[in-house]
This record gives sequence, structure tokens and C-alpha cells, in this order.
Amino acid sequence: MRLTDCHNVADFRELARRRLPWPVFDYIDGAADDELTRVRNTESFASWDLVPDVLAGVETIDLSTTIMGKTTPLPLMLSPTALQRIFHWQGEMAVGKAAEKFGLWFGISSLATVSIEQIGEAISTPKLFQLYVHKDKGLNTSLIERCQAAKFDAIALTVDTIVSGKRERCLRSGFTSPPRFTASSALSYAIKPRWAMDYVFREKFRLPNLDSYISAGTGEPISIQNYFNSMLDQSMDWKVAEDIRHQWGGKFCLKGLMSVADARRAVEIGADAIMVSNHGGRQLDGSRAPFDQLAEIVDAVGGEIEIICDGGVRRGTHVLKALSMGATAASGGRLYLYALAAAGQPGVERALTILSDEIERGAKLMGITSVAQLNRDRLRPR
Ligand SMILES: Cc1cc2nc3c(=O)[nH]c(=O)nc-3n(C[C@H](O)[C@H](O)[C@H](O)COP(=O)(O)O)c2cc1C
Repeated sequence: MRLTDCHNVADFRELARRRLPWPVFDYIDGAADDELTRVRNTESFASWDLVPDVLAGVETIDLSTTIMGKTTPLPLMLSPTALQRIFHWQGEMAVGKAAEKFGLWFGISSLATVSIEQIGEAISTPKLFQLYVHKDKGLNTSLIERCQAAKFDAIALTVDTIVSGKRERCLRSGFTSPPRFTASSALSYAIKPRWAMDYVFREKFRLPNLDSYISAGTGEPISIQNYFNSMLDQSMDWKVAEDIRHQWGGKFCLKGLMSVADARRAVEIGADAIMVSNHGGRQLDGSRAPFDQLAEIVDAVGGEIEIICDGGVRRGTHVLKALSMGATAASGGRLYLYALAAAGQPGVERALTILSDEIERGAKLMGITSVAQLNRDRLRPR
């Protein structure tokens, strides 16, 4: 199977599965507990049908959307995800460069394997930094100040990761960051020599945004579960979120909200956007799917704050359904991560080309020339 055999996100997933050591693949693909929420995140889109209009004159269409003050050609964002250099040696730089070609928002994680400064210099597309609130206040302040200096366009404060979800595939495989080559996992790495050579001989793995503060950045293997449970501040509350918004002073998004009450509080503290998200099913298993939860949040705070539907998106039509339900944009992680793991920057570019074509084709078949024409009248529950 080659890159040219990939025609949808599922194909990229299969190519990634073949190319990665299984502990790495399972870290990307897996989620919490029984993974019910991960599965539901995508299935929820199938619970609603699109209702097209025809004879609408769709030769020229403009699907551009304004998200947190930046106009992008498509209503799609690339969500921040951790540890990308473990998936492919080109890591975040490949994703950022691909996002730039399409003019899309892209995010780097607090656990990114490139520095805030490198991304700030190299990538001109709208970019956000995903902030975890650490117990170490000095680290939080340093991350915010570095984002200011590097002229990031937004901070997304992740609020659904007070403790780590129970990621059982990682417990079984013993996945750590950086990967630890134990007797039991050695085989999984040995049978993927291409990945192993890249990992060993390319630039050394680091977490450069954290490494002057915590041991997780020094190269000491730590499970992600341990990192979250020992480093993150479980006392984080609305006051902390509000203080961070003031300290940052720029566009501010809360990532990982699911309830109407929380969406209202996000408006009250002056957030510019919320990502309705359950972290791709990696945290609270049994949590509702973002798409299922959209309508009540849009009805409560639509027009007062931007609402981004994050998770489960695998098709252009999923994006169109999210917008029809009232989201400002859709966002996703695995939709580009499988492609990164499968083939680096060319992989992500191919995935974005496919998704962008699917969105445009779907829009034309829906009979719309701009995303503003999508509304609930275009959806019916099954
Ligand atoms: C491998 C992986 C790593 C992730 N790392 C982070 C992270 O560091 N910070 C964060 O806020 N979300 C993280 N996420 C969650 C994504 O930002 C996003 O919410 C999720 O991927 C959406 O679900 P989807 O993968 O179905 O699109 C991660 C997701 C995956 C799959």
C-alpha cells in the first residue's frame, strides 16, 4: 500500500497501521476505557442526514470562514496533538507546512516536539498554542510569554484533562514518551526498521517547550498518563482560566467544553471561541459526542462566541453537517495524524487535498455557494 492508494482518512489509518510500531499506532488510534466515545464521535454524524437543494448555480463557490479573527479558505482546523515526531520524523513542522499551503489554522500542543519559537518563525498560517495548566506556575507563565513573543494567533486552554483518561492500549503496550525499548516492546520496533532508523538517526526527540522545567522534557521516558497525573494542576477553575485569558491578552479559546452551563461561563469570562470536544474520546469515556452536543450549545450561546466542533471528523460531509448544526468550523486530530504517520508532509498534504475536495464537492451537491447558507433546515435526524 502506497500514499497514492489513500483516498480517504480510513486509508491513511491503514497505511499508518502498517508503517508504525504498534505501541505508537495504538497511542494515536486509541482512546479511553471501552473507546465508546471515540467510536460515537464519528458515528454521530451518521445519525443525521443532509437535505440538498439543486439547480443552485454552484460553478463558483467560496467556503471561506472567519475563525478567531482570521479568514481561512475552509471551515476546518487542525487540532493540537502531542508528540508528533514520534509518529513521523518531520513532526509538527510537516503539519504546519501542510496547513500553511491550505491556509488553515493549526495548533501545537504543550507536548509538541518543536519549540514555540521554531513554529513562530517557520509557519505563517494562523496558529494556536494548546496550553495545559501545570502545577508549576513559572512554566505556565513562560509558555504564555513565549507565545506572545513568537506572535501566536491564539491560545487554546485544554480543560478536559485534569487527570489522564485510562488509555488501555497504552497500558498494554507500555507506550512512553520518548519510546522506551523494553524487552517486550522491542519486537514491535524491530519489525518496523524504517520507522526505527528515522527515530534513532534523525534529530533527537525533545519536548522543547517543557524541558527547562520538567523531567518529561529531558528524555526520561514517562507515560503520558503519569505526565498528566503528576504535572497538571487539578485545582484549575474558572478563575484560573480567566486569569490566563488576561495574562495572554490575545484570542482565547477553551478546548474540551461539553455542557451548556460551561459554554455560558466561557462567554462570561470573555473567551473568543470554544472547542466542543471530548479530546477525541481519550479522556471521559461515555462522554457525549461533540456533534450530538452541538445543537444545545449553539442554541444557548450561538452568536456570542465561536463554536468549533472538534472530534470524529473523517469526511467533508461531517464538516458540512457540523456547520449546518450551527458550528463556526470543524476541527480534528486523527484526520491529519494518520496521514502524518503514513507519509510525513506529503501525507498530510494529500489528506488535506482529499478533505478539501470532499468539502467542496459536498457543498456543490448541497447546492450552496457559501457556508453561511448552511443551517438546520439542511439536516434531518435519522
Ligand atoms: C495522538 C493524539 C494526541 C493528542 N494530544 C493532545 C494534546 O496534547 N492536547 C490537547 O489538547 N489535545 C490533544 N489531542 C486531542 C485533539 O486535540 C483533538 O481534540 C482530538 O484529536 C479530536 O478527535 P479526532 O482525533 O477524532 O479528530 C490529541 C489527540 C490525539 C489523537
